[in-house]
Parts: sequence; C-alpha cells; structure tokens
Amino acid sequence: MGELMVEKHVKYIVSIEKKKDDFASVVMEHLRLNGAYWGLTTLDVLGKLDAVNQDEVVSWIMQCQDQSGGFGGNIGHDPHLHYTLSAIQVLALFDKIDVLDIEKVANYIASLQNEDGSFSGDIWGEVDTRFSYIAICSLALLQRLDKINVEKAVAYIVSCKNLDGGFGCTPGAESHAGQIFCCVGALAITGSVDHVDKDLLGWWLCERQVKSGGLNGRPEKLPDVCYSWWVLSSLIMIDRVHWIDKKKLADFILDCQDKENGGISDRPDDAVDVFHTYFGVAGKILSYYYYYCCPPFCMIYLLQCNSHFFW
Ligand code: FPP
Ligand code: ZN
Repeated sequence: MGELMVEKHVKYIVSIEKKKDDFASVVMEHLRLNGAYWGLTTLDVLGKLDAVNQDEVVSWIMQCQDQSGGFGGNIGHDPHLHYTLSAIQVLALFDKIDVLDIEKVANYIASLQNEDGSFSGDIWGEVDTRFSYIAICSLALLQRLDKINVEKAVAYIVSCKNLDGGFGCTPGAESHAGQIFCCVGALAITGSVDHVDKDLLGWWLCERQVKSGGLNGRPEKLPDVCYSWWVLSSLIMIDRVHWIDKKKLADFILDCQDKENGGISDRPDDAVDVFHTYFGVAGKILSYYYYYCCPPFCMIYLLQCNSHFFW
C-alpha cells in the first residue's frame, strides 16, 4: 500500500499558497483562515513549517479581525466563531497568542452563548453543537473558560445525546460522527466526558468502518478520509480506540493520496484538497501514535510534542 508521501504533500500545500488565482482558491476565498489552519498544521506535523513566512501569516491573520473581536475568513469578511478558532489555533501553532487582545476575543466568543447554554456561530444566530465545541476549545486555548456558563454549555450538549449513544447538531437531530467529535471533545475539555455512554458510543463509532477500511460519518454513507480524524479521535477520547482496525484504516488513507502531485482526497481517485490532506495526515498519525495526542484540541497539542519525531 506504500507510505505517506511527505515531500509531495509539503509541495502540494506550499503550491496552494502560490496559486491564489485558480478556481479552487477563488471558491475557497471565504474559508481562507480555515484553509490556513489546515495547511499550516499539516506542514508543521510534516516538520516543514519553516516553508512559510510566519510574520506575514500573523500580520494577515490580524487583518482578518473585526472590531467585535471575532475573526472573518479573510480580510474584510464578517466574523464567525469558526474563523476565530482557526485564528487562535494558527497563532498558538506559532506560539504567538500574545499578539491577541485576549479579553476582546474572549468577550466576542462569550457573547454568542445563548440562554439555554448553546452557542450561535455568529450574530445571525444559527445554533449547532459545532459552535459549542469551537467556543469551548477557543476559550480553553485562551485560558478564559471562566467567560461562559460552562455548566449550561455542558447541559446543552448532553441534551443533544441520542439513544444510539451518539450526538447530533441540535436536540433530537441524527447522530453524525463530526458532531460526535465536537460534543465528546467539548465534554472532554470541560472534564465532563462521563456524560458519554462509552460502550454504546464506541460500538456506534466502530460500525463506521466499511470493507475498504475507510470510515463513514453515519450508517449507509460512503467512507471519507476526514472521518479518520472525527471517528478515531472520538474513540481515543472515550478509550475505545482498540476496537477498530487501525491498519486497514491507515491503508485506506494511503490509498487516497495523489501519488504524483501530492495531497489527499476524500476517497481514492477523487480530487485532492487541503481539508482532506490535513485530516488524512492527522488520521494516519492517530492510527499509530494516538497515545501522544490530545484529540480534543485537534492537532495543536500533538504538535507541541515535537512533530519531527514522527518522520
Ligand atoms: C459532510 O456531512 C460534513 C463533513 C464531512 C464534516 C463533518 C465534520 C463536522 C460536523 C465537525 C466539524 C468540526 C468543527 C470543529 C467545525 P454530510 O452529511 O454532507 O456527508 P456524509 O455523506 O459524509 O454524511
Ligand atoms: Zn470529508
């Protein structure tokens, strides 16, 4: 099945930055801050973060900040919790959190908590457990969880738990592996993971593995490389990762590589993108080195334990 093609993936990520005018870059413009997080984190895990100019990236990130304290996906774009987390994560990656007015950013995040403990993604109000995770992860990285009502935030997440042990985006919504990562991650960060029915959820998560070794996000769906992260890291957080065939999963991820030009796609022979390259590399690492990671924070803490060790 082969190896992770480290040099080719580095080349692919660096080339995205240079091709600002091609179609993929144009349609992704509003997501640029998230793309920066996925790309830069991948470079760091592969031991090649020095391929970018960190000062330039930090200066661009700070220009994405809105007067509310939140960050937009690009300069002049509306702020949203998701871009705010990406900004914090990249600054943490560079060990540059200090450039932030932490109080201001924390106030922006806290302002999006609703009366029932849930979070909206921005001022327009959409509520989703993704935003609970993002708010909690961001504030934990800023060491300002005291800004929100954690008890209510946890109660809201628990209200999204289903009879199958999984979690959905709102109370009563179908269990989905992405939402499960968010809910279990938020519970883990706040020390509330005991609310999870570990055996029941572990069973549901293991059933996500299909014949090819890849994982899907819910029953009857196609496998997709990004679920390698959402599912595996959730299994690690509930201490059930030994229930899955990690070798078969790693082979599926390797099969999704573009062996000529670098990058990883959602499924074998599809077009590669930076999102699946990041989660593919992350999943591949987790399948071997999970005991070195802190999954609730995505890759941040993995990176702090000398990523060069892996290659
Ligand atoms: C597609 O769902 C959605 C994804 C592949 C991403 C899922 C991940 C999350 C919800 C977690 C996001 C986390 C953060 C921190 C923002 P689909 O139902 O269209 O696709 P399917 O066919 O795979 O089910
Ligand atoms: Zn995907």
